[in-house]
Amino acid sequence: MKVLVGVTGGIAAYKAAELVRELQRGGAEVQVLMTPAAEKFITPLTLAALSGKPVLTSVWQETAVGDRFEIEHIQIAQDADVMVIAPATANTLAKLAHGLADDMVTTTALAATCPLVIAPAMNVHMWRHAATQANLAVLQERGVRFVAPESGELACGMVGEGRLAEPVTIAESVLAAAGHSQQMAGEVVLITAGGTREPIDPVRFLANRSSGRMGMALAEEALSRGAEVLYITAAKDVPVSPRCRSFRVNTAQEMHAALLAELPRATAVFMAAAVSDYRVEAVAEQKRKKTERMTLELVANPDILRDVVQHRKPSTTVIGFAAETERVLEEGRRKLVSKAVDAIFANDVSGVDSGFEVDRNAGMLLTHAEEIPLAAANKRSIAQQLLSALPAIRNAANAKTWWAHQDSNLEPKDYESSALTD
Ligand code: CTP
Repeated sequence: MKVLVGVTGGIAAYKAAELVRELQRGGAEVQVLMTPAAEKFITPLTLAALSGKPVLTSVWQETAVGDRFEIEHIQIAQDADVMVIAPATANTLAKLAHGLADDMVTTTALAATCPLVIAPAMNVHMWRHAATQANLAVLQERGVRFVAPESGELACGMVGEGRLAEPVTIAESVLAAAGHSQQMAGEVVLITAGGTREPIDPVRFLANRSSGRMGMALAEEALSRGAEVLYITAAKDVPVSPRCRSFRVNTAQEMHAALLAELPRATAVFMAAAVSDYRVEAVAEQKRKKTERMTLELVANPDILRDVVQHRKPSTTVIGFAAETERVLEEGRRKLVSKAVDAIFANDVSGVDSGFEVDRNAGMLLTHAEEIPLAAANKRSIAQQLLSALPAIRNAANAKTWWAHQDSNLEPKDYESSALTD
C-alpha cells in the first residue's frame, strides 16, 4: 500500500516522523512530501532516513524514468493508495479548499484521485476562525477525511483545540482510508458521460446540456476505491482521468458501439450520459444555408441502455439515470421497469443549482427493493453514495430474479393441484 505523507509548516511537523513510523508498522510504503515552510521545522533528511526515500520538496524536480521524463507530482499522485497531510496549517487548508497548487504538497493533493486524509494543527483562534471553518466544510463536502485536532496546551502558550492529533490516531485513519481504496478492487466499472452530439451539417449539431461532470465524479470515485474504469464520454470540457481507459465519442451510435464492445468485461455499468433520442436522417455534406424555414427529418437512435441490459452477462449490474423536469419519481419508477435495469437514479434538472452544468446534484435512487433519497450535495458525494449502494442494488436485483424464477416454476396446474390437496 502506497501512502503519501504531506508535511506543511507548523510546529507539529516533527510529529510527522512518528507518523511515518506508525504507517510503516501498518505495512505502508511511505513517500514524504514537504512544503518549504515545513523544512523550517524538520529537515527532509530526517524524514528521508525514516521513510527510506528522498523527500520531495519541489515541483521543479526532474525525474528520468528510462529515456523519458516524468512529471513527479502527477506520477506519485496517481500511484498512491491514500494521501495524508499532517500537520496541515490553516494556510494549506485554505489553498486546498480553493484548488491552489503552489508547493509540492498542494500540487500533489490536487492531482491525486485517491482518498485524502487531513490532520490540521494550528492556534486555537486560527482554528475557530470562520474562514478556516468554511474551508474545512468545503473540503469535507468534497469527501476529504479529517482527523480533528485535539484540545490542550498549544505551542503558542494558549489552551484550546488545535493540537495535532496523535500520530497513531492519524495512522489508523489513513490505513482505514487505504482499505476503502481497495473496496472495489476487481470491479470493472463502465461509465458513460456527457451529452451526445448529432450532426446537422459539418458546422452544427443537436446536443443537450449534460456536462459530463456526474460521470467523471463516478469515474474518480470508482478509481479511488480500486476499481478499473472504462469511461465512454461525449463531454468535451471535462478532463478525463489518465487512470481510466477512456473512449471519446460524439454521437449516440458511436456511444452504442463503444459500449457494446466494452460491455463483456464490465461488472457494473453506470449510464450517466444524456443520449440524444434522435439523429438527423440526412446530414448535409456542406454547411446548410439560411432559408425562411427549415425542416430537419429526425430518426430514432437506438436505446443504448435497453441493448446493454439485453446483451449483458447476468452478473453485470446496470444503473440508468433519468434526468427529468417534472414527475421525477413517477418517471424514474417507469424507467426502472421499462428499461429492465437494476436501478435508476432519478434527478430533477429543472432547478439552477443541481443537475446539468453545475457541480451539485440531488435525486432518488430507485432499486427493486427501496427508494433512497440522495440529498443535494456535490457530484463526488453523490457518486460516493451511488457506488456505496451497489451491494444493495445487487441484492434487490437478485431477490427480484429469484422471485421471478419461483413464479415461473409454478405452472397453473400446480396451483390447481395444491388447491385440490388443501
Ligand atoms: N438512454 C439510452 N439511449 C437512449 C436514450 C437514453 O441509453 N437513446 C439512457 C440514458 O443514458 C439514461 C436512461 O436511458 O441512463 C434514461 O434516459 P432518458 O433520456 O431519461 O430516457 P428516455 O428513454 O429517452 O425517456 P424520455 O422519453 O424521458 O426521453
